[in-house]
Amino acid sequence: MRVDGKHFRSIWLEPDGWTVGAIDQRKLPHEFVIAQLATVEAAADAIRTMLVRGAPLIGATAAYGMALAMRAHASDAAIDRAYKLLIATRPTAINLKWALDEMRAVLQALPPSARAAAAYARAADISEQDIDINQGIARCGAALIEAIAARKQPGEPVNVLTHCNAGWLATVDWGTATAPIYLAYDRGHAIHVWVDETRPRNQGASLTAWELGHHGVAHTIIADNTGGHLMQHGMVDLAIVGTDRVAANGDVCNKIGTYLKALAAHDNNVPFYVALPSPTIDFSVADGVSQIPIEQRGAEEVTDMTGRTADGRIETVRIVPDGSPVANYGFDVTPARLVTGLITERGVLNANRDALSAAFPERIAAAAE
Ligand code: MRU
Repeated sequence: MRVDGKHFRSIWLEPDGWTVGAIDQRKLPHEFVIAQLATVEAAADAIRTMLVRGAPLIGATAAYGMALAMRAHASDAAIDRAYKLLIATRPTAINLKWALDEMRAVLQALPPSARAAAAYARAADISEQDIDINQGIARCGAALIEAIAARKQPGEPVNVLTHCNAGWLATVDWGTATAPIYLAYDRGHAIHVWVDETRPRNQGASLTAWELGHHGVAHTIIADNTGGHLMQHGMVDLAIVGTDRVAANGDVCNKIGTYLKALAAHDNNVPFYVALPSPTIDFSVADGVSQIPIEQRGAEEVTDMTGRTADGRIETVRIVPDGSPVANYGFDVTPARLVTGLITERGVLNANRDALSAAFPERIAAAAE
């Protein structure tokens, strides 16, 4: 998507043909910094420290991490070592395991001399596949937005609420939740997005708002607790969020706070959609609420805030009393009954096992391996 009129992806191969470039998302929205990843350790650190984040981008980065590992050593032991290093970086987004399993299957079938080239090729495929999937989500989701637009006065915006950043920065390009928004906007529809700030790391306020602004989409940042009030007053036409893992029963794991938005949407008859790329489906988990591992992150994400001072310096300040204990759950699970539909690359599905398995039978087989 566009940054100051120039097309960017969130991750790419540099012209040298082996170093991996990525936007350092920890610096946004105040600084636009490109990071270079040259080793598997650097790729793992990038995921762990959230230089890159978002379920599909974590998967793509891990795939390139395997390629970097193969460039250094292409033995069976090196495959194992890189897999273990990368899989341990973040527990919740299933795309990480999906991408690593894909890479390992390709690499193990080849002699060491062929592995580095094959790894780069498969990592590039995974990136292209992510973009194709997101464009499919864009088409299916834009139809939902356009149906609402058709009931409005000409020029009256469709109001979409979104949570966290499931935008192009969370994927390779286009985003998941934002893909229908960008497509409907590009087709000339009036759209306005309510952007949940998404404490504690503020991915909505710092990343989604930045993306939408650069693309020209009208938006308003709101404190996380605002959505229910807006829904009660008819100010939200639909909610579209992303997801880090969808269980076989249609339960949706996403950034902490998503569940509360789904409850508010249910109470106010606001359609609540989840944009779901197929690698995010996990048929090995029967019940999302009880079985998806929820990442707990460092206390400093809650105790501290970073921002730009009036004179342009980036500073971190503490906002809680010294000594108060902190809990920092990164994700929550929204039960399938609260989800109006799953916007996938193969259509908008009901959030249940029958619909998921009819649309994506190959994912059932993958979960059984
Ligand atoms: O902790 P993060 O920033 O990696 O969380 C991921 C997210 O941004 C989301 O929860 C998102 O909605 C799913 S990724 C398309």
